[in-house]
Amino acid sequence: MRLATLTSGGDCPGLNAVIRSIVRTASSEYGSTVVGYQDGWVGLLEDRRVDLYDDEEIDRILLRGGTILGTGRLHPDNFKAGIDRIKENLADAGIDALIPIGGEGTLKGAKFLSDNGIPVVGVPKTIDNDVNGTDYTFGFDTAVSVATDAIDRLHTTAESHDRVMIVEVMGRHVGWIALHAGMAGGAHYTVIPEVPFDINDIVKAMQRRFQMGEKYGIIVVAEGALPKEGTMQVEEGEVDQFGHKTFTGMGQQIANEIKRRVGQDVRTTVLGHIQRGGTPTAYDRVLATRYGATAAMAAHTGQFGTCVALHGEDISVIPLEEAVGKLKTVPLRRYERAQAMFG
Ligand code: F6P
Repeated sequence: MRLATLTSGGDCPGLNAVIRSIVRTASSEYGSTVVGYQDGWVGLLEDRRVDLYDDEEIDRILLRGGTILGTGRLHPDNFKAGIDRIKENLADAGIDALIPIGGEGTLKGAKFLSDNGIPVVGVPKTIDNDVNGTDYTFGFDTAVSVATDAIDRLHTTAESHDRVMIVEVMGRHVGWIALHAGMAGGAHYTVIPEVPFDINDIVKAMQRRFQMGEKYGIIVVAEGALPKEGTMQVEEGEVDQFGHKTFTGMGQQIANEIKRRVGQDVRTTVLGHIQRGGTPTAYDRVLATRYGATAAMAAHTGQFGTCVALHGEDISVIPLEEAVGKLKTVPLRRYERAQAMFG
C-alpha cells in the first residue's frame, strides 16, 4: 500500500510522533510506503510532497515539537473548488489512503474528502482538547504542563510583591487547558468560555483573599472567556478570513477591572504559543504514537471514513461524523466541581 499523511491547522506537540508512528507501522508491519504532503491541505492541492522513509531521521523526530511537514489552513471554499485537483494528485502519486492529522476543522475536511470517495482515516489533534468523540487529544497534556509550570512560577513572584497575577491561556471555544492548569496550579479563580463570568464574583474573591490576610491571588483566564451580558464592557474583536474572532486580551481587561476595584497591584501574563511549542510530554508521545499506529492499521484494513479515538485506556476507530459538527466542551458540573477550589 502507499499511504499519504499531512498535518493541518495549528501545530501541536506530538504531530511528529504521529508521523513517525505511521511511517514505522506502515513499513515494518505492512511493507508499505508513506509520503507526506507539505503545509497541510495546501500541499495536497499544489502536489507538494516528500517521501518519508523508515530511517534514523524519522526515528529522531519523536522528541521534536512542531511538524516536519509544515502546516496551514485552507478555507472550506477552496477545498470544494479543489476536489478534482486533489483526486488527480492522489491518483498520480499512487496513494491508496490518506491520513490527515488535525483538529475539528481538518477532520471536517477529511469528511468532505471521504464523502467524495477518497479513502481517509483521520487523526485528531489539538492542544485545546476539544475534538468530540475522543477522551484526549495529544498536545493537550503538554500545553497543560507548560501552563502549570508558568502558574507555579507566578505564585512565588506574586507572593513577594502582594500582587494579583492573571494568566491567560489558550482556548478559543473551550476551557480544558484553563480548567486543568488552574486546578493543577492551585489558581484562586479560573474563567472558561463555556461559563460566562461575572466580574463582581472575581473581584469579591480577590477582596476576600486580601481581607483574610492572604498576600496574593492567581487567576487563570481562557483566551475565549467572555463576561455575562451586561456585567462588564469589553472590546470587540475582528473576524478573520476563517471566521475566527481575533482576541482582544480578556486577561488584561479583567486585570484592569481588578486593579481599579480591588486596588491591588495586578500583572498579566499571556502564555500564547509557548503552550504549543517544544517537545511533547511523555503522555503525549505515547498517545500520538498509539494514534499513528492505529491509523496506519485502520488504513491497511480498509476502515475508511473514520478517525482514531481514545476511550478510557483503549484506542479505537470511530466514524468521522462523531468527531465533527460539535466541539467537546467542559461540562458545567466539571467547572462547578473546580469552583470549590477557588478563593
Ligand atoms: O486551536 C488551537 C489554538 O491553539 C487555539 O487555542 C488558539 O486560539 C489558536 O489555535 C491560535 O491559532 P494561531 O496559530 O492561528 O494563532
